[in-house]
Amino acid sequence: MRKKIVAANWKMNMTQGEAARFVESFLPDIDEINDVDVVIIPPFTAIAKVSEALGRAHNIKVGAQNMYWEKSGAFTGEISAPLLRDLFVHYVVLGHSERRTLFGETDEMVNRKVRAALEAKLRPIVCVGETLDQRDKGNWEKILTIQLRGSLAGLKPKELQDTVIAYEPVWAIGTGRNATPQQAQEAHAFIRKILREMSDDTTADRVRIQYGGSVKPENARELMSQPDIDGALVGGASLDPRSFAQIVKAARQE
Ligand code: 13P
Repeated sequence: MRKKIVAANWKMNMTQGEAARFVESFLPDIDEINDVDVVIIPPFTAIAKVSEALGRAHNIKVGAQNMYWEKSGAFTGEISAPLLRDLFVHYVVLGHSERRTLFGETDEMVNRKVRAALEAKLRPIVCVGETLDQRDKGNWEKILTIQLRGSLAGLKPKELQDTVIAYEPVWAIGTGRNATPQQAQEAHAFIRKILREMSDDTTADRVRIQYGGSVKPENARELMSQPDIDGALVGGASLDPRSFAQIVKAARQE
């Protein structure tokens, strides 16, 4: 049984003060929940504040939205895996579609980052997903295959099991238009099939695959009750502690 994982991707939002207030009002709401992995992914500037506000007494983890593959050195403006570890970061989002389209990240770059993250004992959340044009042309399976094989190239089974995949159809991100549970399930099952081809049955069955793209309290439960949907990567609706808490609760198997 895969444990669900629900993550808040705050993108380029939240000052330190806003982040601390979020944690303060979020924690009591999800106090007794330990059957879902919860991850908060602030901008770099609020990571320390969120770690501090969370304290050590519970199982919410902190993530980062990106990193560079080198460990240290003359790379102005970049952040490395060891620097993230220093802030008690456990997860790192890699290859988000906004990074791919706005900042020119390729599968090869994502792959270098994934390997560097795993080497530093960070768990990558690797994003894949097709554009509307690619879906309309019937190319989504081909695009997902290229992205998965490229971004995850060379990973050993254990490393794959430590990796989370996020299926985020680009046409559903920030648009209010989520994939239907059936569309998302179909894509997730396909992703698991590719993972099986890249490794083995046990590994493919253990990898958690999140859905992302206009997840809200109203659609979260139905999406996450699909057999291959193991959680959510939430953008807009994660900026409000109440709605994010509702999404976390929707992940519980009851
Ligand atoms: P929205 O939930 O705002 O559509 O964003 C999804 C996303 O990109 C999460 O990484």
